[in-house]
Amino acid sequence: MQKENEYIPLVEQVMEIRKRGEVPLAFIRTYGCQQNVADSEQIKGFLAEMGYDFTDSPENADFILFNTCAVREHAEDRVFGNVGALKSLKRKHPSILIALCGCMMEQEHIAQRIYKSFPFVGLVFGTNCIHQLPEMMYKCLVDGRRLVVRGNQDTVIYEDIPKKRDGTFKAWLPIMYGCDNFCTYCIVPYVRGRERSRNPEEVINEAKTLIESGYKEITLLGQNVNSYGKGLPEEEKMTFAQLIAEIDKIEGDYLLRFMTSHPKDCSKELIDTIANSKHISTHLHLPFQSGSDRILKRMNRHYDRAKYMEIIRYAKEKIPNVSLTSDIIVGFPGETYEDFKETVSLVEEVGFTSLFTFIYSPRKGTPAAKMDDPISYEEKNKWFQELLSVQEKISAKRCADMVGKQYKVLVEGYTNHNNELQARTSGNIIVELPCGEENLVGQFCIVEITQAKNWILKGKII
Ligand code: 5AD
Ligand code: SF4
Repeated sequence: MQKENEYIPLVEQVMEIRKRGEVPLAFIRTYGCQQNVADSEQIKGFLAEMGYDFTDSPENADFILFNTCAVREHAEDRVFGNVGALKSLKRKHPSILIALCGCMMEQEHIAQRIYKSFPFVGLVFGTNCIHQLPEMMYKCLVDGRRLVVRGNQDTVIYEDIPKKRDGTFKAWLPIMYGCDNFCTYCIVPYVRGRERSRNPEEVINEAKTLIESGYKEITLLGQNVNSYGKGLPEEEKMTFAQLIAEIDKIEGDYLLRFMTSHPKDCSKELIDTIANSKHISTHLHLPFQSGSDRILKRMNRHYDRAKYMEIIRYAKEKIPNVSLTSDIIVGFPGETYEDFKETVSLVEEVGFTSLFTFIYSPRKGTPAAKMDDPISYEEKNKWFQELLSVQEKISAKRCADMVGKQYKVLVEGYTNHNNELQARTSGNIIVELPCGEENLVGQFCIVEITQAKNWILKGKII
């Protein structure tokens, strides 16, 4: 990092000459998951140190960056379309630097395609190269070179990268990077590299600083937070349950969330910790992906339906009002309608608050992409719609059961029509509230639920 920091003033000097307006402006667009959002906060941290300000319009920017997602084909197609549209901008303002980073760029075939098809893209870098941003930018800006920098095998965690957080009361806090699970459908282990945990003291101190500076909600991030601590040196060893128990001890009025949990590592110790905590949210996002044991095996998930249901039963018993959500893939290669029906029956058995449902998308280089996949997309889409309508009724019933009850919510902002406040319960359900005199955004308040609208609630402040 020492060497990297030396590039910061150099980029600042270059941009003093090259900027188009008063100050150099950067436009950052982030696709995909919260990990990408957290990565973009580090990128913005570096840019701010290099003298950049930020703009919402690519037309005004001196530096344009797309932080990409590779998890499904749809996400990639959007990036290709949107990058193509930047060509005319670069022609109009040749001095702008266009860059792409994130999970898509860690795939060799994609990086090559970008390099060949989009000559106006000056910089391509992978998920583990953010710490080199000032140096990479300097080389592009000074030498006019096109750079492709990848290398997801780097397992070092760089703690001193600056951060410019998007939120003032909600914060993302990565606790680990990468994934070792190799679910057969998933590209993440290939593009984010091996699992590695941050030092617990660093994490706890960061949480403390956030709480002391007034943050009300902290979300701990990792592809599989339940395996936090594996691989840490003996003297730093800590499980995820121990980590959140330590953070929970920090005094203050705040809510602690985390994502994502993997059922294979979700321990009773973790559920007990949530149940006995003061600040940890009652929302457990526990993706089961499929209700069929045959498909779970083909997905390489290392649990079966019975094990999943055992965790769910334990969570329901220990955490009053636990709010459960899940990710589900419909139409995994070789899945039959009977397998799919097992997913539906699990959804009915658990009674989730809401679901994140996806139609299987083949990812080049993953084992599932080579499996026989005889069911048409149209057929999978019918199953998908069937699942949505089952869940719709469950969500509606869950919400209806909350009417008349009181909950503590965090007010996050205004609804799209701007005439109501939007808040969120600890269980991660949105509550719309009438605006009062006082500005309540960023504050907790107690509300009574007055009405349920499918998966959204209406309430009034008590
Ligand atoms: N196709 C469809 N959905 C996928 N997911 C991951 N990979 C794929 C894929 N190839 C889903 C999983 C995961 C969520 C983040 O994205 O459900 O939990
Ligand atoms: Fe992908 Fe499985 Fe790792 Fe989640 S646990 S990131 S689905 S490989």
